[in-house]
Amino acid sequence: MTETQRAQVRLPRHIGIIMDGNGRWAKQRGLERSEGHRAGANTFRRICDYAAEIGIECLTFYAFSTENWKRPAREVAAIMDLFRDYLKEAQEREAENARKGFRIRYIGTREGLAPDIVAMIELIERQSAAQTATVVNLAVNYGGRDEIVHAVRALAAQVAAGTLQPAEITEQQISDQLYTAGLPDPDLIIRPSGELRLSNFLTWQSAYSELWFSDVLWPDFTPEDLDRAIFDYNERNRRFGGV
Ligand code: FPP
Repeated sequence: MTETQRAQVRLPRHIGIIMDGNGRWAKQRGLERSEGHRAGANTFRRICDYAAEIGIECLTFYAFSTENWKRPAREVAAIMDLFRDYLKEAQEREAENARKGFRIRYIGTREGLAPDIVAMIELIERQSAAQTATVVNLAVNYGGRDEIVHAVRALAAQVAAGTLQPAEITEQQISDQLYTAGLPDPDLIIRPSGELRLSNFLTWQSAYSELWFSDVLWPDFTPEDLDRAIFDYNERNRRFGGV
């Protein structure tokens, strides 16, 4: 967007993005699905940089769901390798990421992830913890319902220990137990590739999110598409249940 547009637009604080359509993008080109994911990972980098450049405070990218383990082992391995590549690159480019102000966080369950990936996540979260410009949440092995189950278990443990009364449980306490604790709920959720559903993404947090869909396949998604989503968001009238 231009400087003038940037000055006039109301930016969403938190944007969630479902990176969908990589497989179809690859198929259209006669390529392996993993090539689609590779192209998708590059789009992720580009969109991350652009969103930070225009001043988005928080981004959440859905890269792999708790249900995606059902895919062929080769495809799962290829996605995990792309995730590894990104984490390694983020470590190597610590200074560059610090200059961009990226705080990188993982959201999802660590159970089932390879130990080297968990170690890299922990390192990158520590390395970037002091950055404040843009939080980048990587949702890998993430499921919205699974996240709620984890939160409920944590609260149930406090009830069992006698430190919490069931009647005292509030929405805020549930939010505080989620992987996104401390972050604003997503104002805008973007799903490319023509599918019109949320697929277990930010299930609790999306209660009042504006949804934006597009037929563009994720590898083809451009900064201009992000602008379009933000301009459309500006036309929405968010009432949060009021009038
Ligand atoms: C959905 O498209 C995409 C995925 C399940 C994987 C997304 C992963 C990446 C973009 C790379 C991960 C990397 C990082 C850096 C976090 P699909 O395969 O369901 O597409 P289709 O619906 O066209 O088959």
